[in-house]
Amino acid sequence: MTKLWGGRFQKSAEQWVDEFGASIGFDQTLVMEDLDGSIAHVKMLGDCKILPSKDVQQILVGLEELKKRAAENELEFSVANEDIHLNLEKMLIDLIGPVGGKLHTGRSRNDQVATDMHLFLKNRVGEIIELIDLFQKTLVEQAEKHVETLAPGYTHLQRAQPISFAHHLMAYFWMLERDKDRFHDSIKRIDISPLGAGALAGTTFPIDRKLAADYLGFSNVYANSMDAVSDRDFIVEFLSNSSMLMAHLSRFAEEIILWSSSEFNFIELDDSFSTGSSIMPQKKNPDMAELIRGKTGRVYGNLMGLLTVIKGLPLAYNKDMQEDKEGMFDTVHTIVGSLKIFEGMVRTMTVHTERLHDTVHKDFSNATELADYLASKGLPFREAHEVTGKLVFLCIQRGYFLLDLPLEDLQEASNLIESDIYDILSPLAAVKRRNSLGGTGFEQVKIQINEAKNRLA
Ligand code: ARG
Repeated sequence: MTKLWGGRFQKSAEQWVDEFGASIGFDQTLVMEDLDGSIAHVKMLGDCKILPSKDVQQILVGLEELKKRAAENELEFSVANEDIHLNLEKMLIDLIGPVGGKLHTGRSRNDQVATDMHLFLKNRVGEIIELIDLFQKTLVEQAEKHVETLAPGYTHLQRAQPISFAHHLMAYFWMLERDKDRFHDSIKRIDISPLGAGALAGTTFPIDRKLAADYLGFSNVYANSMDAVSDRDFIVEFLSNSSMLMAHLSRFAEEIILWSSSEFNFIELDDSFSTGSSIMPQKKNPDMAELIRGKTGRVYGNLMGLLTVIKGLPLAYNKDMQEDKEGMFDTVHTIVGSLKIFEGMVRTMTVHTERLHDTVHKDFSNATELADYLASKGLPFREAHEVTGKLVFLCIQRGYFLLDLPLEDLQEASNLIESDIYDILSPLAAVKRRNSLGGTGFEQVKIQINEAKNRLA
């Protein structure tokens, strides 16, 4: 089969060499973006009188037909035609004849592929933002049900202070809010058209880049044609934003995994988001959460991969850049799947409120209350800490918790302690009283949830 660029060549490469260089195996994902890019380009060529309108009309009919066939999965791509751009150009020429060969006037595959990538990401990032939004809504719904559900809060994975379970869930809301914000902000760097940059230097044809950009819905055009064809920052940025998102999802996944173990038993995942063991009949595994935790690795890998690809690349286009695609497609696929799964998992999980309640009543996470109580009565906090620590030790020796200690024992440790201490030590009061801005106090959590809802609205 002759190559579209074969004029200068005396012999063709062997098939296995072609296969190594071909990207059609993966860049066919860009089929619609590539056709849309061509439609905008050829319309612009007509508007600028670079091609006669009858040629433009024929080409447009051909491109629309290819779009129809692509939508129905009827296009057959071939490695001999290397990539999506040459495959489609060849198909167009086969479909409408030699006039199809005029499409590539004033254009290069270098600005073409960059345009495809910008179009692709612009659409996907919009969808990803919507998915994050949906997940956040679910988080808020769960949080609203659990404002007054007490739960142990941890540091060093040791019980630290009691919290509202909603407060814990809402922490993830705000992480996702930052993720969403980052994706949103990145759009201004994705929403730029490289089309018309040519191979690297622009073109001699009197094209109108802004018009072509308008046809494609881009808000801006690159100011420098060399930058336009060699910029992959927007993809690195997407991979970086995705990595941050996955870091958050993997932390949440880890908690879901811990919480659903018998040791914690704070939640139960719905059957529809769990799997069984092939040998141990009793098991219900949080596979989906584990997979999301695991898939974080491939997203980080994709980021490191592309950063390494672009490192030290001379201007302008280099074939190395073809390596930008698989990691990006894989990342889109991975984060879209992870967000959908996570939303369903959180929406359908059962929170064991009784168990959470018991948990905070059978630990020392109210010790800070006692220290704060003494400090508020004038004892220097350091000494209050010491007194409380000794009482905790006493409890451990006797197999008690602080609330079980008789008043005499408490007063022996400090004569500042009075009988109101038992109210102070109740986990419910402990949470309620943490009413500082952004704290876990119920009032603060409600304020936070309201703010979250306003953001989502
Ligand atoms: N398949 C190529 C890529 O993905 C398209 C651009 C090829 N350009 C070139 N001059 N060989 O990067």
